[in-house]
Amino acid sequence: MSVEQVRVELGARAYEVRIGAGLLARAGAEIAPLLRRPRVAVITDETVAALHLDRLREGLGGVAMTALALPAGEATKGWPQLTRTVEWLLAERIERSDLVVAFGGGVIGDLAGFAAAVLRRGVRFVQIPTTLLAQVDSSVGGKTGINSAHGKNLIGAFHQPSLVLADIDLLATLPPRDLLAGYGEVVKYGLLGDARFFEWLERHGPALAAGDTAVRARAVTRSVEMKAAIVARDETEEGERALLNLGHTFGHALESATGYSARLLHGEGVAIGCALAFELSQRLGLCSQEVPSRVRAHLRAMGMKVDLADIAGDLPGPDALMALMAQDKKVRDGQLRFILARGIGEAFVSADVPADVLRGLLVTALAAR
Ligand SMILES: NC(=O)c1ccc[n+]([C@@H]2O[C@H](COP(=O)([O-])OP(=O)(O)OC[C@H]3O[C@@H](n4cnc5c(N)ncnc54)[C@H](O)[C@@H]3O)[C@@H](O)[C@H]2O)c1
Repeated sequence: MSVEQVRVELGARAYEVRIGAGLLARAGAEIAPLLRRPRVAVITDETVAALHLDRLREGLGGVAMTALALPAGEATKGWPQLTRTVEWLLAERIERSDLVVAFGGGVIGDLAGFAAAVLRRGVRFVQIPTTLLAQVDSSVGGKTGINSAHGKNLIGAFHQPSLVLADIDLLATLPPRDLLAGYGEVVKYGLLGDARFFEWLERHGPALAAGDTAVRARAVTRSVEMKAAIVARDETEEGERALLNLGHTFGHALESATGYSARLLHGEGVAIGCALAFELSQRLGLCSQEVPSRVRAHLRAMGMKVDLADIAGDLPGPDALMALMAQDKKVRDGQLRFILARGIGEAFVSADVPADVLRGLLVTALAAR
């Protein structure tokens, strides 16, 4: 299978995202041009290490590898494991000109990228994303960081990778639930800016879920193209990049309400959040009822979580959910900013969502549980 290549145009910090099957087997050849000495430090998690670390070691060929495997899961993305990682990199004598490899899902990419950003005031890193979510979203764009007791991703840095290698074959071992959670971010791209891509997903989503490698590669490539273009125009989220947060204001509040636990994965929160964002857009008179219905129908057809009723266990009431939304990083001057849409593929940033309309939506959504 051919390898697709998407360039993230960021001047001196520009880099390539390579997407295709079999990239892991030639990781050494891909990474070697970036190295001053033939050695990398790999940060991964225990699940990915057990499944794929030996193949990465083989693929690196003559590039020596030292590896740290952290516990899998969102709880790893905090101060204790960050400290452990940075101290380990120092103990491994990783120098300013060396390279760190983030080998895992979004948790590992965010944490290892942040560790690289602060290690010796910044060392370069390569992303080898192993989840669909990480391939289409978190490995590209340079947002790195960890969670705080005050909320998700509140501690971090912009630190762009030097290269991203998205090997589609790695997705074969991903549990279906994680694959579908990542698909939430794929759908997000269609919904925010490419109606034709959304239509394509309506047709090909089932094949993607079933394991069709060519369809997966196409979906990852289109998602990365969209993200790369937006990041190139607005790296530090002064404006347009906020569109990538479609569904996230709701999603983050729901993740927080469920304690960042297995009750709700990040991508599941995003999918429910997208459905709510389109519902809110309809309530504000921005689009017709058919639009949120079509969004929900596709998510349902894919077997994804769509409604608050799909989240097991108790949820806080509308006011508590609104308070959690107010913690969102997108709050500016105390004003909540939402990503709304005039139709599929027509999202925009809005700072004027009346609180009573938002509350009304949440009351209805919670009552349906
Ligand atoms: N930096 C960004 O721009 C950005 C964007 C979106 C999301 N994120 C962050 O990404 C995180 C979520 O990422 P995620 O969904 O990849 O979660 P994750 O990293 O926790 O991975 C999900 C699970 O899949 C396992 N796994 C990973 N690859 C596998 C494989 N190939 N086969 C089998 N199992 C595998 C992991 O061990 C883990 O248990 C969140 O913390 C979110 O905030 C960051």
